[in-house]
Amino acid sequence: MALHRLLGFRTAVPDVSAVASFYDELGLVGDPVAGYAGTSGGATVQLDEGAFRRPLSVWIGCDDEGDLDAAARRLGDAGATVHRHGDEVRVVERATRVEFGLRVASRQEPDVRAEPVEPNAPGRDTRLDRRAPAVFEGPRPPRRLGHLVLGSPDLAATRDLLVDGLGLKVSDELPGIIAFLRCSTDHHNVALVDAPVPLLQHYSWECDDVDHVGHSATALLRADPTRHAWGLGRHFAGSNFYWYLRDPSGAFVELYADMDQIHDDDAWEASGRTPFDLGHIANSWGPEIPLEFVVPSDLDALQQAWAGVR
Ligand SMILES: [Fe+2]
Repeated sequence: MALHRLLGFRTAVPDVSAVASFYDELGLVGDPVAGYAGTSGGATVQLDEGAFRRPLSVWIGCDDEGDLDAAARRLGDAGATVHRHGDEVRVVERATRVEFGLRVASRQEPDVRAEPVEPNAPGRDTRLDRRAPAVFEGPRPPRRLGHLVLGSPDLAATRDLLVDGLGLKVSDELPGIIAFLRCSTDHHNVALVDAPVPLLQHYSWECDDVDHVGHSATALLRADPTRHAWGLGRHFAGSNFYWYLRDPSGAFVELYADMDQIHDDDAWEASGRTPFDLGHIANSWGPEIPLEFVVPSDLDALQQAWAGVR
């Protein structure tokens, strides 16, 4: 009885066809209404047409109706307006205006990749007399949607609703700045950052390994170099390799590999969750974080758009 996976999110964008074309190029399967997924299926991104880019809803899978009832009770006790019908519970989070929902869903079996290739290392030559197989690989679709990051004008309120109400767990956080939350074994499935307006800061697709990240990002950048945003690097929070591109709506899209997996909450707290501070917030290594990653280049337009929303 628990939350067990991200089911997906829905976002509004001004030009659905432009984002859909980008997803086709990335190799995602689906359509704007049913949602786009990677080769392993699972979580999807649905696209709605809207006047400006804006996250609309996030859905998380749980095991049974007991999970729904428990979440509805916690949310109600905290004063939220909760909708509990059938196999789901929904609540609109006040600060982001995003609808968060839990739905009873089957657990997804892991899509096991082919046997990983051990790289050569000093004193350990596992590949002899031939090139690395990775140099013969090319761009290919990502495996699955792993996480999304939402900007919130009231990070503490959004964080508390997700953690204390819906039941996500905290993997790492800097109060008031960023919170990495999980609803599966991934280090994070939903992360929250402080922002002047609600926004979809980025969303992220899992790849097999760093070469898969590199091949796929490179192909997208060769087609349009202006898509490059940040990478290649390795994060501290989650430990994953990352490469960020811009999607046509202005949100960042991350390709990632090798994220921390948390199967034992107590073990993570006891020995996995080392201190996380400002020195860790961007990455473990890689290029400096670009300014637009902190202050979106379309922030003025988003603030004007939100001023017209009542
Ligand atoms: Fe990410």
